[in-house]
Amino acid sequence: MSKWLDNAIFYEIYPQSFNDTNADGIGDFHGIIEKLDYIKELGCNAIWINPCFLSPFGDAGYDVADYCRVAPRYGTNEDLKQVFEEAHKRNMHVLLDLVPGHTSVEHSWFKESMKAEKNEFTDRYIWTNSIWESPEGMASLRGISDRDGSCAINFFSHQPALNYGFYQPDPEKPWQQSFDDKGPQATLAAMEDVMRFWLNMGCDGFRVDMAGSLVKNDPEGKGTIRLWQQVRKFLDAEFPDAAMVSEWGEPDKSLLGGFHMDFLLHFGPSHYNDLFRCDEPFFSKRGKGDISAFVETYKKNYEKTARKGLICIPSGNHDMDRLSRRLQCDELKIAFAFLLSMPGAPFIYYGDEIGMRYVESLKSVEGGYNRTGSRSPMQWDDSTNAGFSTAPSNDLYIPMDPNKNRPTAKASIENPDSLYHEIKKLIQIRQSHESLKSRGTIEFVYAKKDQYPLAYLRESENEKILVVINPSAQAQSFDYNCTFKETIYSFGGEANAENQIVTIPGQSVGFYRI
Ligand code: NOJ
Repeated sequence: MSKWLDNAIFYEIYPQSFNDTNADGIGDFHGIIEKLDYIKELGCNAIWINPCFLSPFGDAGYDVADYCRVAPRYGTNEDLKQVFEEAHKRNMHVLLDLVPGHTSVEHSWFKESMKAEKNEFTDRYIWTNSIWESPEGMASLRGISDRDGSCAINFFSHQPALNYGFYQPDPEKPWQQSFDDKGPQATLAAMEDVMRFWLNMGCDGFRVDMAGSLVKNDPEGKGTIRLWQQVRKFLDAEFPDAAMVSEWGEPDKSLLGGFHMDFLLHFGPSHYNDLFRCDEPFFSKRGKGDISAFVETYKKNYEKTARKGLICIPSGNHDMDRLSRRLQCDELKIAFAFLLSMPGAPFIYYGDEIGMRYVESLKSVEGGYNRTGSRSPMQWDDSTNAGFSTAPSNDLYIPMDPNKNRPTAKASIENPDSLYHEIKKLIQIRQSHESLKSRGTIEFVYAKKDQYPLAYLRESENEKILVVINPSAQAQSFDYNCTFKETIYSFGGEANAENQIVTIPGQSVGFYRI
């Protein structure tokens, strides 16, 4: 059962912006293959590629027009197969991005579904029975079809919602179907075909977009959980090794649905933003942050999901501000010491390992809006377009970070004190200690309201490691009775444990075997 997740360290590739090998200003599959060794050298052994399928790109590919054909701008299906093969040769795994909640208006299913005559796709999306009736509680797409009806949308207006039914269909609204009805079951069967197609081609699983919102009017997620349990049966029967990671943000629900791992995200109840993305992030050296609410919700989730699956905390992703928008230099190193010593597989967003900046004031590209600043091209070296592409600068998909001091992978590799090297070291340490890996247990030792530091114990069968993290500039201490037997990692100075008090210098981290 996807055992490899236990020591997986992911690298998220936003394919548009990663590496362009055919000088058209946009990244491609050959570009990914060319950089697999770079990713491996950093220590990552798994990648997640954002949607790379045929699409009008109104939402950067999260508006799929054909689930089984890649977008020509990235290459061919055969090229993607080669990505899987090249990754496997290096003992790496690849997750594709599955977008089961909606399609683009250009998908052939939607074109058929818009027709006035009944056909196989009439019930593939959620339609009311009259253009004058809107689907209550949901935004809708109206007036573009011959069919008389309004179609529910999921995200942007051009992303019609696929029909997986309603948790408790309203008998007064005959267009609301139940998950067990023919239409919703056919939609799910079609989505299983999509999964089958890519898994047979060699992908190792999926990151699933908006996984928690498929069944409608389902506030507690019960219908959606049931849906995913049905998928789990299909996967257990046909692809027991496929890894499933959900964009849900409520691990107790998603793991019950059969996902192996769920993201904590910038939305939802996790308090993830308190760490790195609020006015006073916990990881800022100002020391005015508060991690207690995050820890409290984490603990609850952790207890509820114990032994059922994993919770993962990403460094960032294509939807949120870059980590470096609010944290700099040593603050970033300390943040990564946290990310790389927590349970669940870490996810590093491309470029975060070199401290790539959030590029301010960029014009929105392909539905990015304020997210565009986190999606600028990877900075490889000091050649043209930072080595991302040899196309004229004006042709780049998103402009490069114009800052002349922008970090690059090359300079980071050359500088032994760089963030890149700290991350590489942290990954090596994580991978050589069972207790620090995804399934090592965690017990929080110190995480008090408005207080520093943060301390937790990671434990496996024969090892106990105390992690002490003090992002604040001031030295801190807390009561704890232990003896440090070995320093496994330290940054910014070592802590000491004396007379039942642990004291830790300002802006420092330590992992101690106790
Ligand atoms: C979440 C994705 O990460 C985001 O980029 C996208 O716009 C929405 N889901 C809609 O699919």
